[in-house]
Amino acid sequence: MSIDATTTGDPNALLPARPIDPALFTAEETYRHTRLPVDRASTLIPDAYTSPAFFALEQEKVFTSGWVAAGLVSDVDRPGACVVVEVAGRSIIVTRNRHGELRGFHNVCRHRATRLLDATAREVGRRGRIRCPYHNWTYDTDGSCLGTPLFEGSDVPEGQEPIFDTSGTAGFDRADYGLLPVAVDSWGFFLFVNLSPDPAPLPAQLGDLPERFADHGLARWVPQRRTTYDVAANYKLVGENFMEYYHLPWVHPELNQVSRFSDHYRWQGPGMYTGMCTTPVSRNTDAGGWDGLAPLSTLGPDDADSGRFVWLFPSTALVVLPNHAFVLFNRPVAADRTVETAVLLTHPESLDDPGAPDGIEQLAKFWDLVNRQDLEIVEQVQLGLADPAYRGGRMCFRFEEPLHRFQNMVADRMVGIDRVPAGDDETMTRMFPDPA
Ligand code: FES
Ligand SMILES: [Fe+2]
Repeated sequence: MSIDATTTGDPNALLPARPIDPALFTAEETYRHTRLPVDRASTLIPDAYTSPAFFALEQEKVFTSGWVAAGLVSDVDRPGACVVVEVAGRSIIVTRNRHGELRGFHNVCRHRATRLLDATAREVGRRGRIRCPYHNWTYDTDGSCLGTPLFEGSDVPEGQEPIFDTSGTAGFDRADYGLLPVAVDSWGFFLFVNLSPDPAPLPAQLGDLPERFADHGLARWVPQRRTTYDVAANYKLVGENFMEYYHLPWVHPELNQVSRFSDHYRWQGPGMYTGMCTTPVSRNTDAGGWDGLAPLSTLGPDDADSGRFVWLFPSTALVVLPNHAFVLFNRPVAADRTVETAVLLTHPESLDDPGAPDGIEQLAKFWDLVNRQDLEIVEQVQLGLADPAYRGGRMCFRFEEPLHRFQNMVADRMVGIDRVPAGDDETMTRMFPDPA
């Protein structure tokens, strides 16, 4: 007797069989089970986490079509300071011009494409000039090409002008050979990069986040610690794990002691992000916690007693507590590999406290513990997703609505829909009935 999924009701058998034809990765139909309302939806197709073809397409569809938080604005604090970041496999120089304005460029020489600066560069070069290591073409921090030695007359050694006669240079004007620009902007302590040739303004993507964090003055916060983690999992798994606290009791026994289920809310307005918050912020226990640094004195009563957990689409986690922030920049490297940079930041007021170094140390340890627990479990998810028997699962609707929102944002971009999700009606949406 054959087993008919429609009569047995085996939900796994109702989902698309694997592997899915890569030509369908951009078809709306492929995402129909994820498009259902959250209480009936299935998770994103497993190929989205495992297929190199999906990964390559997603890099283009998701990572080159909007703003990606790629670094910290404090790293580019003056003309000529720079960071080299990577988005969608492109190396990008972010710097400030001589007027202090942010500028972004593809890290590619306009002569024969040599990479100009290495990933660790913190200054563009002497006197604010970007020099190609190959034939010394030179650019300023507005990207203008200043010199193409021996090609059209500049840098010719004295007395050798006749040898380097450039009157035969045809159809070349170095003004046409400036660095290829990339849109850059900032919000709070974040630097954003947008590879789209026609980028929408950053505020359209951020939605109401600037308003929600207005009292924190995030632009003034200072990085204290950075740690890099090499993760054997797709970046979306890192994000989806961050967006739900369903796993708290089992993955984070220590965190679970300081962060109670019933104190969690959804915290999502319009914008390309997912959000939850804990109110009140729980106090430390013997297992550690989030105390240890003085809270910012300018916060209103809600912010002063809340932890905010926001995933900035597509790949950045932002945690803001009254006394510190913790950020995870996740750079997808392959379908099953992500390089994550964690940054612990504090507001400047906290540094006035003599106990600040100890407080920062304690926070760094606590976050490292929690983050390692998270990464260990998402690597197990990655292993499970590789099994073709699994076609997708159901979302636990109370906890996993933010995943549903995120997965639909990914699906939107994959099929070419440019849409910013609307938010909940309330600023804070309780997920459980009030225990009182
Ligand atoms: S490739 Fe840069 S100067 Fe030749
Ligand atoms: Fe976690």
